[in-house]
Amino acid sequence: MERFAGKKVLLTGAATGIGRATALRLADEGATVFAVDRNAEGLADLPTKTWVADVSDEQSVKDAVRAAADVMGGIDVLVNVAGIHKTTPLATLTLADFQRLLDVNLLGTFLFCREAMPYLREAKGVVINTASTSATHAHPFMTAYAASKGAVLAFSISLAAEVAADGVRVVAISPGGVVTPLMTSVSFPEGVDASFYGRIMPQVGFGEPEAIAGTIAFAASSDGAYLTGVELRVDGGSHV
Ligand SMILES: NC(=O)c1ccc[n+]([C@@H]2O[C@H](COP(=O)([O-])OP(=O)(O)OC[C@H]3O[C@@H](n4cnc5c(N)ncnc54)[C@H](O)[C@@H]3O)[C@@H](O)[C@H]2O)c1
Repeated sequence: MERFAGKKVLLTGAATGIGRATALRLADEGATVFAVDRNAEGLADLPTKTWVADVSDEQSVKDAVRAAADVMGGIDVLVNVAGIHKTTPLATLTLADFQRLLDVNLLGTFLFCREAMPYLREAKGVVINTASTSATHAHPFMTAYAASKGAVLAFSISLAAEVAADGVRVVAISPGGVVTPLMTSVSFPEGVDASFYGRIMPQVGFGEPEAIAGTIAFAASSDGAYLTGVELRVDGGSHV
């Protein structure tokens, strides 16, 4: 498929996991991809344009978006994938940890949307934001992460209505359990009863990053032309 021939894609979180798979998928479908991450080493062997930036730093985001637009000659698609995770019971959840989750997951998404929107308006483009099943379903001991993702979903739905008249679409993707460095690093502090998670395992097994990349490609392509202000839950049926 060549659904992204001639399309200019700015994508965050591209060094590993879902972001990396998405960068490769969109490039494979003909896109010019400007891949952003804070992890320079992870970006190094991507066959796309790359840029090192911290999505939680306002100036860093401004620089990345300007560079993307300059290098590619505009931006048709923005895909916000960069994110972090933390598992902590409420009693030991620090303000600093909560703040960091909001800074990266929510405010990083906001900053890229704000900075890229003039180019997306020009292109009548598409924004894909990465939420999570924890935006709408209980995930104990992940309250701060869940709150950050719930906010990404709420932000995306309202933004979709705000920019619809400009011809810009906004779609939130909510992955379930996907095998990536983020997911495999999840662990629970000693003494925590995490049996809840045993009950919400997807019967079809955990997802591969490529499955999420395929959904992002669909939603960002002309095949998703009538999708906006919507959440696509991609979780193998774990959160029905
Ligand atoms: N893997 C899952 O099960 C799962 C489920 C639901 C949602 N998600 C979401 O999907 C997205 C991708 O996660 P993943 O599982 O591929 O994890 P990952 O850790 O493999 O990828 C996240 C990427 O974001 C980058 N990143 C983190 N903080 C950054 C910052 N401040 N600035 C720039 N880059 C930064 C990391 O370097 C990494 O390359 C995240 O938003 C995550 O919350 C993942």
